Amino acid sequence: MKVLVIGAGNMGSAFVKQISAAGHQVSVTARDAAKVAALAAQYPGVQAVVPAGAADGQDVVVLATGYADAVAALQSVGPLQGKVVVDITNPLTPDYMGLTLGHSTSAAEEIAKAVPGALVVKAFNTLFAQVLAQGATLADGNKATVFYASDSEPAKQTAKVLAESLGFVTADAGSLKNARYLEPLAGLNIYFGYGAGRGTGVAPAWVGA
Ligand SMILES: NC(=O)c1ccc[n+]([C@@H]2O[C@H](COP(=O)([O-])OP(=O)(O)OC[C@H]3O[C@@H](n4cnc5c(N)ncnc54)[C@H](OP(=O)(O)O)[C@@H]3O)[C@@H](O)[C@H]2O)c1
Repeated sequence: MKVLVIGAGNMGSAFVKQISAAGHQVSVTARDAAKVAALAAQYPGVQAVVPAGAADGQDVVVLATGYADAVAALQSVGPLQGKVVVDITNPLTPDYMGLTLGHSTSAAEEIAKAVPGALVVKAFNTLFAQVLAQGATLADGNKATVFYASDSEPAKQTAKVLAESLGFVTADAGSLKNARYLEPLAGLNIYFGYGAGRGTGVAPAWVGA
């Protein structure tokens, strides 16, 4: 598939690496053109593009910016009507110890409201960038899980196919409203990784029947 990654930071770089390695056609954009060019140059076939018009012709847009920058970043890449937007953001407080919104809404729902017509799917937000960069198989041999939640079936299917093409196990986490659970789950993952000292090679999973 044709994938636009918005963001060239920890998650954006890991997505560009893994999505291009999986054989998809990847374009990447961010505000800092030099950073984008340097990232794209590392992987054959990856195109560095300017934001304006970058969504044109793409099957999927992966939003890999901070939550505070999300809406501006999406609006900068052109019309998103009918386009799948994979929202990986976590609305973290500056110290990463809490969330700036939740319970009655989520980052994913707020983003969906701000970009009407886009097919928003919450996914990948519970994976550390280090896990994404290293690949789906964790140090203990288990495969990390990508949870996906959306009100759009096509968006869910796209997120599932994309995640599985990268080697991840996937779990349908229901409607977009369930991003209200997935975003705090990322907070718990940060606790396990940093607070509990288990490191950034951990990832949450659902097991059993
Ligand atoms: N890091 C993790 O382990 C992790 C795990 C799960 C989810 N997440 C979530 O993933 C998102 C990205 O995290 P990160 O660690 O990759 O952040 P990061 O390293 O700070 O990267 C953020 C990227 O967003 C770009 N950006 C900001 N505003 C933009 C705009 N208006 N247009 C285009 N690009 C823009 C920045 O571009 P410039 O450099 O050009 O300014 C930068 O490349 C966050 O929402 C975070 O909560 C992170």
